[in-house]
Amino acid sequence: MMKGLILSGGKGTRLRPLTYTSAKQLVPVANKPVLFYGIEAIAAAGIQEIGIVVGDTQAEIRAAVGDGSRWGVRITYIEQDAPRGLAHAVKISEPFLGTSPFVMYLGDNLLNKGITHFVQEFDRERPAAQILLTKVPDPQMFGVAQLKDGRVVRLVEKPKEYIGDLALVGVYMFGPEVFESVRRIRPSDRNELEITDAIQDLIDRGLTVRPHIVDGWWKDTGKLEDMLEANRLVLDTIEPRNEGTLDAASRVEGKVVIEPGAVLEGSVVRGPAVIGKDARIIRSYIGPFTAIGPGVEIRDSEVEHSIILEGASIRDLANRVTDSLVGRNVRIYREPIKPSAYRFMLGDNSEVGIRW
Ligand code: G1P
Repeated sequence: MMKGLILSGGKGTRLRPLTYTSAKQLVPVANKPVLFYGIEAIAAAGIQEIGIVVGDTQAEIRAAVGDGSRWGVRITYIEQDAPRGLAHAVKISEPFLGTSPFVMYLGDNLLNKGITHFVQEFDRERPAAQILLTKVPDPQMFGVAQLKDGRVVRLVEKPKEYIGDLALVGVYMFGPEVFESVRRIRPSDRNELEITDAIQDLIDRGLTVRPHIVDGWWKDTGKLEDMLEANRLVLDTIEPRNEGTLDAASRVEGKVVIEPGAVLEGSVVRGPAVIGKDARIIRSYIGPFTAIGPGVEIRDSEVEHSIILEGASIRDLANRVTDSLVGRNVRIYREPIKPSAYRFMLGDNSEVGIRW
């Protein structure tokens, strides 16, 4: 039986300050933690035993995911003492994985077409490894594969010189041969055991590594722009429904999900958008590609192409909020009293852009 391995450690430095208080894998896309999409994709492929490798943020991940029964799967948590690399995560998971072939899924990755097809192909062919590849404009940011006659011949992690533009997507499939390779490799320049190097080692040992080019979209949600894009891509696929309350002066256009308890007064929501449970939208405009989290309040303001997390409030703003990621319980409002100046209380590594 195949097993699943989801990597959910890491510090999420590129999403600070949000990741000071939340694991990057739990930042929501269309109001659902990124990590849940991965669990769903693995469950949909018929895999029931899933190991989740966790680090510093394990308490939160455990609280959010639980034992997996919600998805009909069994979750085992595997503790990694520090982010020592993807191949290190594989190494410490050997007792859980045993000799089962497995799919490894990076917890901050999103693939719109799921992985079922990919898992079936691997199961049929049973190569030592199967990797997913996609063309990217910035290959130096990823692991990159070189192909020859439909086979993988070389892999380089974050290549400094151009060797091609086929990046490794964060979903991999392995047979038990990989354990020997993760033991053979040495740490990289960033002092991590790279899975890319372990796959190169499989090739060096004469084993087969099958490439599979992804045909849908793929996002690694490690940074703000990627989060917003993932949000956009997922919102585009939602089924509209309204379980909230709208007054006569409110209007909803396009694909919009309104969760139970949400209230709209004198407002316009233009989808695709989701309005979370118990959110309040008062005399406001919510534009396309916006995810309003549970309990958020938007009052006399306009918000579009943004992700607003649980409990935040935005009130009386003169200009539209756009391209933004606003953390839990953040409050943005207009000061009624003089002097007319900005007054901020921002966490470390916050970012504020003001246009004149
Ligand atoms: C990791 C892998 C890289 C892969 C990427 C996909 O990079 O090392 O090969 O292309 O995930 O998301 P990291 O996010 O650790 O920089």
